[in-house]
Amino acid sequence: MAVNEQKIQVAAATLRAGGLVAFPTETVYGLGADASNANAIKKVFTAKGRPHDHPLIVHVADSAQLADWAREVPPAARALAKKFWPGPLTLILKRAVRVSDLVTGGQDTVALRVPSHPLAQMLLQAFGGGVVGPSANRFGRVSATTAEHVRQEFGDSVDCVLDGGACDVGIESTIVDLSGSQPALLRPGWITATQIESALGTSLAAPDAHSPRAPGTLAKHYAPRTPVMLVESDVIDELARSFARQSKRVAVLARNARQPLIENLIWIAAPVAPAGYAHDLYANLRQLDAAGCDVMLVEQPPLAIEWAAIRDRLMRAAAGAAPSDDT
Ligand code: TXA
Ligand code: MG
Repeated sequence: MAVNEQKIQVAAATLRAGGLVAFPTETVYGLGADASNANAIKKVFTAKGRPHDHPLIVHVADSAQLADWAREVPPAARALAKKFWPGPLTLILKRAVRVSDLVTGGQDTVALRVPSHPLAQMLLQAFGGGVVGPSANRFGRVSATTAEHVRQEFGDSVDCVLDGGACDVGIESTIVDLSGSQPALLRPGWITATQIESALGTSLAAPDAHSPRAPGTLAKHYAPRTPVMLVESDVIDELARSFARQSKRVAVLARNARQPLIENLIWIAAPVAPAGYAHDLYANLRQLDAAGCDVMLVEQPPLAIEWAAIRDRLMRAAAGAAPSDDT
């Protein structure tokens, strides 16, 4: 038996026994548990430190399993599944009666996703059922895009970690709500709103008061410990110098390697194209955070649609986190 296959069998057995399995997906690592086992699901909330009303995504091996979890599968869901699954898209549908309140946060909807990562696919096929999989990070923190990040987050509280290397996409899936009268974008992701709209042939609504709550889209989320400021590229140098004059240690995430010659500065030059930028984003934020600086300056990403999901994550990382002095 190939090494991977052996590991997959152990991981599937761990899920069956009610344990926690961290697994790679093409977006970020997930903290997996049997979606039909209430005790296993409770362990996910405990390990993450996540409030119980925050619903979880159920991962399945293929779209044939949609009907196991959703009581209605509208044509729009079929169309998006056909076009984007397996892949970085999550659909919100009306839940089937069997779906536990623990999974849905007590809402009448369920989030479903068919991931494309080969190890995720092997795990889901070996296990056979649905696997809840929130991002494998402690609540409110930066998602994990390597097995090493997962270990940093959870230590021994996860029974099994499948190591699939660094995740391709690097940011969480696009979430589209198809449970209401009009499709709505609940979380931007690598698959853009424009791609979804052209696959559906209709425009996406912004979430409204009737949309299912997606509490994981709280304003302050995906946050490093270091206060993050989103700043325009032309003021980074000046701002970095001004913090340095106050003996503050500064971390910078920019899309170029231009470094002002000042002490106490750690600067990461991120990839200039959105795919590479997203791929490295959480590893970069973690590395800068680990430097223990007083402030993190992140260059505003471009306004083009390909950067929308990255902008969303950076805005959340920066929300409410400006340092108290106003330099
Ligand atoms: O890429 C991803 O989606 C990753 C990988 C592991 O699949 N998972 C992920 O899960 O990002 P999590 O739990 O960190 O984020 C899921 C988001 C949360 O904001 C949650 O509130 C929302 O999906 N969500 C889950 N079920 C929902 C539902 N029934 N209605 C509305 N939002 C829901
Ligand atoms: Mg998350």
